[in-house]
Amino acid sequence: RWAAAAGPRTVLLAEPRSFCAGVERAIEIVELALERHGPPVYVRKQIVHNLHVVEDLGRRGAVFVDELDEVPAGAVTVFSAHGVSPKVREEAARRGLRVIDATCPLVSKVHAEARRFASEGRLVALIGHAGHEEAEGTLGESGESGVLVQTVNDVAALPADRPVSYLMQTTLAEDEAAEIAAAIRRRFPDALEPKRNDICYATTNRQRAVHAIAEESDVVLVVGSVNSSNSLRLVEVAARHSPAHLVDDQGGIALDWLAGARTIGLSAGASAPPRLVDDIVAALRGLGEVTVEERVIAQETVRFSLPKEALS
Ligand code: F3S
Repeated sequence: RWAAAAGPRTVLLAEPRSFCAGVERAIEIVELALERHGPPVYVRKQIVHNLHVVEDLGRRGAVFVDELDEVPAGAVTVFSAHGVSPKVREEAARRGLRVIDATCPLVSKVHAEARRFASEGRLVALIGHAGHEEAEGTLGESGESGVLVQTVNDVAALPADRPVSYLMQTTLAEDEAAEIAAAIRRRFPDALEPKRNDICYATTNRQRAVHAIAEESDVVLVVGSVNSSNSLRLVEVAARHSPAHLVDDQGGIALDWLAGARTIGLSAGASAPPRLVDDIVAALRGLGEVTVEERVIAQETVRFSLPKEALS
């Protein structure tokens, strides 16, 4: 098996890949909180959906909880990058928690749209995935007006008793979301859409970059955790062109996948640390000669400032 998996080969790196500005900001917020307040710092849900990030911050004193009732009254508590619903904010206020909000500003933008559409008496059809924390937060902001739409078939079940608007989760596959949006507009021609695309720049760029490398690759590896929505979408986009696998790190790679593969495509979800990609390239070098090439489809310059409560 080692012989079949041996090089020489080309590794095609998708660029952009790995951390987005929202994830970098969220991790920095937890690091700063640990520095300024000392451990433990409580974090509601995983700060970002990545095993390595969560384990690393956990070792440094972050305590990840599912719900706020696990946090002692008055403790420093960070809300994750995916955002929370108003109910969670209210509970935090009631319990006197010192909240630092790491919600990505691009998720907050969708929340603001949800509040505006709901206040206008519109149905808010959220195109997204059930059970994902971001979808829960955005639906919460929509109150009674929010309905989750996961497939084109769900569109037929939407109530027609009031004007309709729609929004999207930030990490969806561009073309699938567009298909569902088109079905909504077919049924409700007057439906209001988000002012600017809700699918964020990082999701869009990573999907386009992985598409570009997948066309040229014998197999594609995407670094990310199983609960990372944007990483799963990268695997799906790549899999339209070549076999594609999600791995948490180099340990997740099966040698069989590499047998006969002369060109290996490599990308990473927005929540996956860049060093994991470097580790995989190093591991592949251990199998034989490797030439690394990068396919750059966009330059990212987005940076978000920290919330003021993170600095106090
Ligand atoms: Fe924000 Fe998009 Fe990253 S919504 S957290 S910039 S994947």
